[in-house]
Formats: sequence, C-alpha cells, structure tokens
Amino acid sequence: MGIVYIDDHRPLGRINKDIYGQFSEHLGRCIYGGLWVGPESDIPNVNGIRSDVVAALKDIHVPVLRWPGGCFADEYHWQDGIGPNDQRKTMVNNNWGGVTENNHFGTHEYFELLRQIGAAAYINGNVGSGTVQEMQEWVEYMTMNGTSPMADRRAQNGHPDPWPVKYFGVGNESWGCGGNMRPAYYADLYRRYQTFVRNYDPQHPLTKIACGPNNDDYHWTDEVMKSAGPYLDGISLHHYALPHQTWSGKKGSATGFPADEWVSLMADAEKMDELITRHSAIMDKYDPDKKKSLVVDEWGAWYDVEPGTNPGFLYQQNTIRDACVAALALHIFQHHVDRVHLANIAQMVNVLQAMILTDGDQMVKTPTYYVFKMFLAHQDATALDTVDDLPATVTTSVSAKGGGYLLSLVNYGLDAAADVRYEFQTHTVQSAAGEILHSAAMDAHNDFTAPDTVVPEPLTTGLTHDAHSVSVTIPPMSVVTVHVR
Ligand code: AHR
Repeated sequence: MGIVYIDDHRPLGRINKDIYGQFSEHLGRCIYGGLWVGPESDIPNVNGIRSDVVAALKDIHVPVLRWPGGCFADEYHWQDGIGPNDQRKTMVNNNWGGVTENNHFGTHEYFELLRQIGAAAYINGNVGSGTVQEMQEWVEYMTMNGTSPMADRRAQNGHPDPWPVKYFGVGNESWGCGGNMRPAYYADLYRRYQTFVRNYDPQHPLTKIACGPNNDDYHWTDEVMKSAGPYLDGISLHHYALPHQTWSGKKGSATGFPADEWVSLMADAEKMDELITRHSAIMDKYDPDKKKSLVVDEWGAWYDVEPGTNPGFLYQQNTIRDACVAALALHIFQHHVDRVHLANIAQMVNVLQAMILTDGDQMVKTPTYYVFKMFLAHQDATALDTVDDLPATVTTSVSAKGGGYLLSLVNYGLDAAADVRYEFQTHTVQSAAGEILHSAAMDAHNDFTAPDTVVPEPLTTGLTHDAHSVSVTIPPMSVVTVHVR
C-alpha cells in the first residue's frame, strides 16, 4: 500500500491555469483543416473556424493558445496575414513540408479562434528573419487603443478595438530553427527586440518571454538569464519525450510499439522534473524571489509520423501511453508551481501529441484530451504539499479549491496495480467520487471508426473512504482522478 500524506495547511502555491495551455502552429493540418476550414466550407463553422473542434475545446477550458509557431514563427511576416483573403501573399512553409501557406489564417482569424474558445493570447514574434520594426508594429497593431498608424489599419481591416495579448515570445528556438544563435548573441538581440515590444495598454502589460534552452542546455539558460534577466518575465523550455533518441535514426511508432518503447518513453518524459529543477536552480541565481517563469511552451511525446503521411506534417496517433505522459507532465508542473506558470502542449490538433484529430469533417478526441478534461479542477486551484512512498511508476498531485480536493494519479507501470491511501491531516472526508482512463492494451486509442475506445469512466471499484482517508486502487496504464468533499 502506497501512502500519500496530504498536508492541508501547507500550500505549494496556486496552480496557474495557464499550465494547461496549448500550442497551434502553421504545421501540417493543425491550423488548416484542423481549426480553420474557411467560411465557405461544407464543414460546419463560424467565421471559418470549425464548430465541432471549438465545442470540444470549450469543454476543456483552454486557458491560453500559443501561435503561430514554433519554427514557423521565425519565418512568419504578420502583414502577409491581414487584409482581404484573396489579396494575401502566399509563402513556402519551409520548415514543414515545403507546402504553400496562403495566409488565410492570420492575426484576425487567430483572435476570432480565441474568442470562440475563450482562451488568452500567446503570440510568438519573429526574431530569426523579422525586423525590430515588424515586431513593434505587430504589437501596436494588436494592442494599441485609439489612433495610430497600426490601430487605424486594424480598424480598416474590420477590428476597431484592440485585442488583449497576455504573453509575447521574442523568437523561438533561436539556438536552432530560429537562427542558430549562440546564447550571448541571442541575449543581446532579445534585449534589443523587447525594447520595442511596448505596453500600449498599461492596465494589461505584456508578459515577455525569452527563448530558453533546448532540453538540458543549462549554459543557454545561464547566459540568457545573466544578460537579459532584468528584461524578461519568462524564459522558455522545450522538452519532447521520445521512445528512441534522434541519433538512433528513428523515434518509434505511436501505435504497435513494443513494451520497451513504453518504458523508454516514460523515462524520457520523467526527465522533465530534472530539467525544471536544474533550470530553476540557475534562474534562482539571478531571480531568487522567483518572479520570472520557466515557461514550458513545447512539451509532449514525439513519434515517427503515421505511415503514408507527409513526414513534414508530424501527424501521429495518440494512445493510453500518451495519456500517461500527459498526466505525468502535468503532475511535474504542479510540483513546481513556484516556477512553472505557463506551459503549452504540442500541439492542439493533428500534430504531435494532439488533443484532437480530424479527417475531413470527422473529429475524434484523443486520450490526452481526456486527461485535460479529468484535470480541469486543478486549474487555478491550490497545489498542496504531499509526502508519499508511492511505487516508482505512480505519481500524484493534490489540489484544493472551493472546499473540495482533486486527487489525480497516474500509474504508468505496465503490469502491477497500485493500492494508494491518501491521508488528510485535518479535513473530514464526506465523499469521494472517481473517474478512470484505462485500457488493457498498451496502444489503445480512439479513431474515426471507434472514437470511444479510451474514454473516462466512473471508478466503481477500488475506491473507498473513511473520515480522514481515501483509498484507491489504480490499475497499470491508467490515469485516475478523485473528487473529494
Ligand atoms: O512542435 C514542432 C516543432 O518543434 C516546433 O516548430 C519547434 O519549435 C520544435 O522544434
């Protein structure tokens, strides 16, 4: 029996709901086909944005959506994506399949998507191939109220009111696809570009995010924090979990994989904890009061693409294994609430560890989607400190909100169920209701012919409680949530 002691009087801090953020890039069928079908489409849509996907996303309360990339961001010139659609310039999407980008989804369409799903904006600006003036004018175009050249242009394009921009990223992966820079050079560029990312709305200042490290590049974090620390509010971290590391020439398949690839993927997913711990320790040197965030704005599992699909489109299936990766990562973020205030799973639709898959007019919710749904009550709740002796393949997070508690746990072991008892220090338990996401097959997934293979179900066995404790049995390859009053 694993035991989790919950110290109801020792909050770790607020779980910023923005750690449940998502990412949508002009990549493969994420934007085009997945989110945007255009107003003329036969697929039901509102102002060009598909209604089935919006309805699904509203149910999981997406707090924030990062756009337009990723690598795409450092080739994106925002002025190509405004004005009448038929006059928008096309470009080649060099990073992702070399396809033609028609720029029909641009700034106005992005904010319309945000309006429909109720999410806040996280815009990633172009440092790699864009000018300072271009970045300054984009921010002015989006956020300036009143009269200015860019505000007037926005009004001419049909939107007199400014939009709120919560987060602004200055470059993406500037150590790689964003310009192959060295950290000291990027830090200087960051200082320069961010100077012109102005706060036109002093009531809602932008949270400025610098490009951070790839995985365990601690030198990058140190250099950027040392030189640009006073000018940034957050620094990003990208970590994808892979069953095989890229030097092996393959990543592994999303389905039909052997057991050792389950284990190696989980080991790589677990590394997120060490990465956050060590990057945070570097940040502590320059920001001991933890005012700045470590922003995990790309995370998730990355496999070989589905056979027969465009290698540049990064389309992969999503199984109960991905659900376990998601639960594990979200638990890790919640253990680091003091530093991690924003995170964005990659990506929202049809790309990498997607929440939703589409094919023409069909749509399916993935097991990862259901984890986000089951964890909803964690958003903006207070994370509580726990002490546990859980088996190595079981992790948990406990939060409190409105007089109730959410206990979430994942068992990413392949064989053994785990019995877990949660002991409250002071709370008197009145009720406990659970849900489980589980499948006996390692690669169980939802597809267009069988959309409900992996869906949450009420936890009817193995859940009991008394006045001060809740006991639950979690099978292997499962995610469980328990709402306690
Ligand atoms: O999410 C896919 C790609 O992964 C992003 O464009 C890039 O930032 C990262 O390398």
